[in-house]
Amino acid sequence: MKSIYLIGFMGSGKTTVANGLSQAFTKEVLDTDEIIVQKYHQSIPEIFQQKGESTFREYESSVLFQTPTEDTIIATGGGIIEKVSNRKWLKENGISVFLKTSWEEINQRLINDTDRPIWNNQSRNKKILLEERIPKYEEVADIIVHTDGKSIGDIVKEIQDKLLEMNKSI
Ligand code: S3P
Repeated sequence: MKSIYLIGFMGSGKTTVANGLSQAFTKEVLDTDEIIVQKYHQSIPEIFQQKGESTFREYESSVLFQTPTEDTIIATGGGIIEKVSNRKWLKENGISVFLKTSWEEINQRLINDTDRPIWNNQSRNKKILLEERIPKYEEVADIIVHTDGKSIGDIVKEIQDKLLEMNKSI
């Protein structure tokens, strides 16, 4: 099977759902943010602070293009869809699942978050950022799952069912 890429805004549950899918399908799970931290030996906030967002985006693309395109579940960073080249690569190489979460729910989940430089940047309007990104997630998505009010189990089951429908099941 092609690898499954979880895409969606910060706080949409990509990492948790990727772990759930990994268990359900007994496939390896990866996380692009985790790979960046390991590969460049810095935390995400340190990379943003010391090198800036554009360097982080370069690292992110380089890591994305090296992910295995078969038999793996991959959680991505919320901004992976910002670059046209990343969107093109995802469309060509993977099955992308967009976890579509409302602003209200994201805001509630990330209220005490201190690890996400973009979320913590007071000069950025995150609600507008979400609105700007939604069409980019949708452009890439093979599957869209609305996550509000659903358990991880419900979301994993919905993705499995949709994969079956697409006849791309594992
Ligand atoms: C980002 C999302 C983060 C991380 C980085 C930038 C973004 O990942 O990649 O802080 O631009 O939305 P999560 O979506 O896992 O929080």
